[in-house]
Amino acid sequence: KNINPTIIVIFGASGDLAKRKLFPAFQNLFLDCRMPEKFQIIALGRAEKSDAEFRNYVLENLKTFSRKSDVSSAETKDFISRITYLRHDIDKEESYHELNSKLTSIDQTFGIRANRLFYLSIAPSFITTISVYIKKIGLTPNVGQDRIIIEKPFGYDKASAIELNEMLSQTFKEEQIYRIDHYLGKETVQNILAFRFGNSMFEPLWNRNFIDFVQITVAEEVGVEERGGFYEGVGALKDMIQNHLLQILCMTAMEAPASLGADDIRNRKADVLRSIRRIKPEEVDHYTVRGQYDAGFIKGSPVAGYRQDKGIAPDSNTETYVAMKIYLDNWRWQGVPFYLRSGKRMQEKQSSIIIQFKPVPHSSFSYGNEGMTPNRLIINIQPAMDIKLQFMTKKPGLSLSLRPAEMVFDYFQCSTMSPEAYETLLSDALVGDPTLFMRWDQVEQAWDAIDTIQEFWKNNAPANFPNYKAGSWGPEAADELLARQGHAWVPNT
Ligand code: BG6
Repeated sequence: KNINPTIIVIFGASGDLAKRKLFPAFQNLFLDCRMPEKFQIIALGRAEKSDAEFRNYVLENLKTFSRKSDVSSAETKDFISRITYLRHDIDKEESYHELNSKLTSIDQTFGIRANRLFYLSIAPSFITTISVYIKKIGLTPNVGQDRIIIEKPFGYDKASAIELNEMLSQTFKEEQIYRIDHYLGKETVQNILAFRFGNSMFEPLWNRNFIDFVQITVAEEVGVEERGGFYEGVGALKDMIQNHLLQILCMTAMEAPASLGADDIRNRKADVLRSIRRIKPEEVDHYTVRGQYDAGFIKGSPVAGYRQDKGIAPDSNTETYVAMKIYLDNWRWQGVPFYLRSGKRMQEKQSSIIIQFKPVPHSSFSYGNEGMTPNRLIINIQPAMDIKLQFMTKKPGLSLSLRPAEMVFDYFQCSTMSPEAYETLLSDALVGDPTLFMRWDQVEQAWDAIDTIQEFWKNNAPANFPNYKAGSWGPEAADELLARQGHAWVPNT
């Protein structure tokens, strides 16, 4: 509660993200006493609406999307009463003058110039216009107090990201820009740092001498839902790999930071991105696999193929699946493949990191075993939230044969509910802690690492789309990508 009074301004407040994530996150922070004592939310949208109408809309959505859905409580009513709605035209200067008057009048009521937190929950094409007007009207003049949160994708390739960043930096200083990647707010993703650097027994093994390969999977059951229009121009490489998966890769592969300070952590992560081996266009097919889902079954129910989904071209070549092999050119990881994959309409929702250790140098247990399985450390990010260590033990009985066993740490054994990713990130933005947000050089390096791939894919249409059935684990070529090295995707973790 010891946070400066703050006015939160949400652009695109009637949109999907605001309804599903932002309002529920602010409400939960409020119920957990994590909001400033004095705060107001100004919700901006195109349609004409009264405060009462909009508050009612938020309340209805909280019932569905808030993890604390008791919306009849006095606290939730208090929260709702702090939202005001303002009709806003992104292209009209006048709208920004109205916003300015609103901000000033709230400051007067608070009796203090409040911090300002702008959340851009809008299509990326509007960012420039908004930023230009914010500067022109002078809405965010105080570097220490005024911040802007920007959703991904930040640009669509390195060149456009640089351009966007240069444009933004005419209005904001780097320390005011909070580039959000909601995976970094997930409890289990943050725990990777705690697990790696809060223990002494894993880190000595965490390198090329002991680790055979690493797999990072972010599989979704859902298709593109209502987002076809957006997704068509984006695809899995830009929607998931460039940001979420590369960030998980950073957490898994980074060196220990000197401190938990924002820049110490972000420096170490940037090192990882810089060390990703850049591939040449002619190597793209060797290192990557792209896929698009066909009709199929998810948990027994039939679902349409991507090309039949709403807003999708019948001959679309947008990828809904990517698998790739990454090498990190540094001392710790030289020669260790990192296999990344992400897809929509996969067999089940599952995000995990699998560290597979090298096999024993010599097995004395050749007979009567159920097969020697390599040691594995499995970090389940979602929906399971656990860490498993797999190792071999003696099979009970007279003979000395082996079987695999597992030690498990399960988050759900903790009694408290974990906060949603957006709660953590918004709370950090309110207090001005950028650690879990993407610094500019991270975004730039992440684009640099994948630009060759997207360029090559754009110039070379896929021969066989759609190439995996909804409800499967992706195209066969993704299995071959690993099989070439004697590896396989580890199933059902
Ligand atoms: C978003 C992507 O960033 O992450 C979506 O744009 C994807 O396509 C979503 O579905 C997945 O997030 P989560 O938290 O549900 O795993």
